[in-house]
Amino acid sequence: MMVEITVDGRVLTVQAGQSLLEACLANDIYVPNLCHLPGMADPPASCRLCFVEVDGMPQPVTSCTVAVTGGLVARTDTPAVRRLQRSALRLLLSVHEVDCKNCPANKRCELQRLARFLKVGLKPKDLPAPRKTPAVDDTHPCFSFYPNRCVLCGKCVEACRRAPGETVMAFSRRGFETILYFDVNAAEAGRCENCQACVEICPVGALVMKAD
Ligand code: SF4
Ligand code: SF4
Ligand code: FES
Repeated sequence: MMVEITVDGRVLTVQAGQSLLEACLANDIYVPNLCHLPGMADPPASCRLCFVEVDGMPQPVTSCTVAVTGGLVARTDTPAVRRLQRSALRLLLSVHEVDCKNCPANKRCELQRLARFLKVGLKPKDLPAPRKTPAVDDTHPCFSFYPNRCVLCGKCVEACRRAPGETVMAFSRRGFETILYFDVNAAEAGRCENCQACVEICPVGALVMKAD
């Protein structure tokens, strides 16, 4: 069923039940986001970037978790929304190794786009951030993993889950220790089909195909 909602003063006709984030993006209203993938039944809402204000809700809410209903009124560009989005982005950048010149994602990187859009410097001036070691994990036969570039968006895990065959990627540990885990034996055992879906969907330069 199609319903009408109002976003930033524009009346939009959208599918009832789809997420407010998807409705905005489909109508060329950009809302910052990193962990969203279309068609996720249970969005992780982990990046905390997609805040909007919705009439009747006391605080800004993550638009990827709001299901659209007729008559909904939202604003994507308010001081409170931008403040929350900048804080979320600064938090991500505080543990990110920014070295764009030597990164294959340079100029197509979603972090760069977000920083430009939200007018946040890519290199925080704070103390040097703690780093995960090793800086590069080359144990997978097909790709290299750079944990200090990973924004923990979960898109590679979801892409692996959607790809044919077994799911061989997941997150392990918790908090700052959270890190992407992949089954390095899966390729040899034929359970990872080297489909590259994970590498292609990574919004930054954390997964890089090996040259050979
Ligand atoms: S992932 Fe993006 S922000 Fe980070 S070093 Fe690479 S290009 Fe720069
Ligand atoms: S490796 Fe890339 S796609 Fe996977 S969680 Fe990290 S940033 Fe997201
Ligand atoms: S896209 Fe909504 S929290 Fe990440």
